[in-house]
Amino acid sequence: MIYKEDFSHSQNNENIYLYTLRNKNNMSIKVSNFGASLVSVTVMDKDKNFVDVVLGYNAVDGYKDNDAYIGSTIGRNSNRVSKAQFKIGDTMYQLDRNEQDNNLHSGFNGYHQRLWKTTVENREDSKITFNLFSKHLDQGFPGNLNVSVTYTLTDDNKIKIDYKALSDQDTVFNMTNHSYFNLNGHNQEDILNHLLWINADFYTLINNESLPTGSIEKVDKTPFDFRVTKSIGKDIFSDFKQINIAKGYDHNFVLNNKKDLSKKIVSVISPKTNIKLDVYTTMPGVQIYSGNFLSGNKFNKDNAIYKKYRGLAIETQHFPDAINQSNFESPIIKANKTFKSSTIYKFSIV
Ligand code: GAL
Repeated sequence: MIYKEDFSHSQNNENIYLYTLRNKNNMSIKVSNFGASLVSVTVMDKDKNFVDVVLGYNAVDGYKDNDAYIGSTIGRNSNRVSKAQFKIGDTMYQLDRNEQDNNLHSGFNGYHQRLWKTTVENREDSKITFNLFSKHLDQGFPGNLNVSVTYTLTDDNKIKIDYKALSDQDTVFNMTNHSYFNLNGHNQEDILNHLLWINADFYTLINNESLPTGSIEKVDKTPFDFRVTKSIGKDIFSDFKQINIAKGYDHNFVLNNKKDLSKKIVSVISPKTNIKLDVYTTMPGVQIYSGNFLSGNKFNKDNAIYKKYRGLAIETQHFPDAINQSNFESPIIKANKTFKSSTIYKFSIV
């Protein structure tokens, strides 16, 4: 079932709404047409209490000033582009330089801060689609692009996010969801006690600007080995160059599932609530970001204080800067050919 309410608060008549999708187990998610943002995810814990497990804001004002990308739908390209430049064919394209000389999450005018058109596809199934038109050279990218993001909440407690894109020129397309999960509850302590499993034998190294060096390294015998479940906190303070650069985890893992949506890529468990999150995706990589720079306190839901390590972002995506790294899979979608990708976040209790 879908329930619609006003989310514009102090803003003037902008038709900003918050939609609640609920399944038969009373799990619910809230999404907004502002940024196609994921505002809350409320699931049952081991004691049958409902817990909101994503960071978020209680008013649209928070989403308008959201440099931590909380709950954001990132587009047209997630993660970093070195020198904020890339070439397709012989043409060089210039993006915003919003992180030193580089581009992060598509620059100053991200899709996460736009008003999307809403189509409620199916009230009974809890399925909602947001559409956006992004014209040629919007943010610097080539091609008139029609993009849609569909959130589906299923009765087996899955949130499925489907991205669909069609451009009239070859372009970069690499969208993700930037929700921060905290399975203790968004207003509880940090995520260092969470148990994490990642289905990845390799990860991509970063330089001092958090850009990939191009090198793909084994996780074996490093703090990045989550092939056997361990707590996020176990190695996060290791004196290891890659950890020191990012002040924690903020790295892309090379997924072993080979884009097979039926094969799990990540599992997270809170030993406090026993809530478990399993993630699936058709994308080749996932950026695991442990909230190392979180510090925002304005407009947070329940007046929570979101400090360092308060949430874990699990950003399914192409590898960072893939457009400039010849050994990474290309993030280019072809002109006039519909591109689709999907990510599933499934909740259960262990
Ligand atoms: C992540 C990125 C981090 C940080 C964060 C937003 O995707 O990898 O370095 O910029 O977004 O605060």
